[in-house]
Amino acid sequence: MANSNLTKAKRAKNDEFYTQYNDIEKEIYAYIDYNPDVFRGKTILLPCDDPEWSNFTKFFAQNFERFGIKKLISTSYAVDSKIYKDGYQVTMFEESSPQYDSSKTRTRGKIFTLTRDISGDGKIDVDDLEWDYLAGDGDFNSPEVEALRDEADFIITNPPFSLFRDFLAWIVEAEKQFVIIGNMNAITYKEVFPLIKENKMWLGATGNGSDMVFAVPPGTKVDEKDKQKAARLGYVGDYTRLGNSCWFTTIDHGRRHEPIQLMSMADNQRFNNKLKSNDNSYQQFDNYDAIEVPYTDAIPNDFDGVMGVPISFLDKYCPDQFTILWRGGDIEWATSECDFFNPPKPEKAKEYKKQDKTWRIQNPYILKNGKVKTVYQRIFIRHIK
Ligand SMILES: C[S@@+](CC[C@H](N)C(=O)[O-])C[C@H]1O[C@@H](n2cnc3c(N)ncnc32)[C@H](O)[C@@H]1O
Repeated sequence: MANSNLTKAKRAKNDEFYTQYNDIEKEIYAYIDYNPDVFRGKTILLPCDDPEWSNFTKFFAQNFERFGIKKLISTSYAVDSKIYKDGYQVTMFEESSPQYDSSKTRTRGKIFTLTRDISGDGKIDVDDLEWDYLAGDGDFNSPEVEALRDEADFIITNPPFSLFRDFLAWIVEAEKQFVIIGNMNAITYKEVFPLIKENKMWLGATGNGSDMVFAVPPGTKVDEKDKQKAARLGYVGDYTRLGNSCWFTTIDHGRRHEPIQLMSMADNQRFNNKLKSNDNSYQQFDNYDAIEVPYTDAIPNDFDGVMGVPISFLDKYCPDQFTILWRGGDIEWATSECDFFNPPKPEKAKEYKKQDKTWRIQNPYILKNGKVKTVYQRIFIRHIK
């Protein structure tokens, strides 16, 4: 297979991951627990979905009345526009509908809406979804889906992973509330981190640091290790797990207001075994006036200065307890805005580069007997007094 085809295939597979009902349920109930009226009287758009069988559509349609939703809109992307289109079949639901059109089924996106009881059974639920073909393929960037975005109060979905940046920008520019699934590494993107720092977006309430399992199109090649992990979690067949997935949201939930229980530096050094076996712990960085804290549970509760912590800290981040200053590794910030950046002298920098070709002036590093030890992916934080 030519290289570009390989890349395409990889991208294609990376976009076709379908979210499990119970993952959606756990996450959304965390918002409802915190504020039972969070969706009351609101319009929710579920884009990049496949409403005929999507668990997002099912879940919100089933809870339409309980949550007091005003309008639910769900849109799908046309199969011919997808990179990965193997195994597509028209569903019985679509084929038996009066609006079924064989000339549109592969090229048009679909829109499902839920606002009222059309089945006449006295309740509004999944049986009352009305659908039609969209004029275009359902691309979230198309004017018609954009108009739906503008109409909505909340955008909720698991968007295409390969377009995560564009998708987030698309929601943020419209200033919508959202709940979306992404990869934890997105935290370090230059478009994403400022939102986290400014508490304009945070991690969701569930799934953080654990494996999330997704359905994949039938017959998709799944790494055996991931298949086994999914199976251990009870999902056998066309499933995979993605260890680094997480929810990103603007909806408040209780977990982000629970401060992390922490010990003093001395107690950590005495009782925290993980910390004892990591000799970088609490060392001063050479290029930042900050200390290295390799584990979130080892953040000392009695240190007033700046601390470099792993990005998984954000799983536990409570904005009432810590201020996020920025992330290590950003040269622009380090050299122009950071008031605790202490770059080494040019001759020293040359020496460090010789020692380690991957060494960069902006990445936090520790000096051990004159030798550099770079610590990647650190977020700088400080206790709120
Ligand atoms: C990660 S999957 C998630 C599907 C569904 N939201 C779920 O969670 O089960 C993302 C979906 O977005 C679709 N997609 C890809 N590019 C798109 C685009 N530009 N606009 C809309 N949808 C797109 C993919 O084909 C894929 O089905």
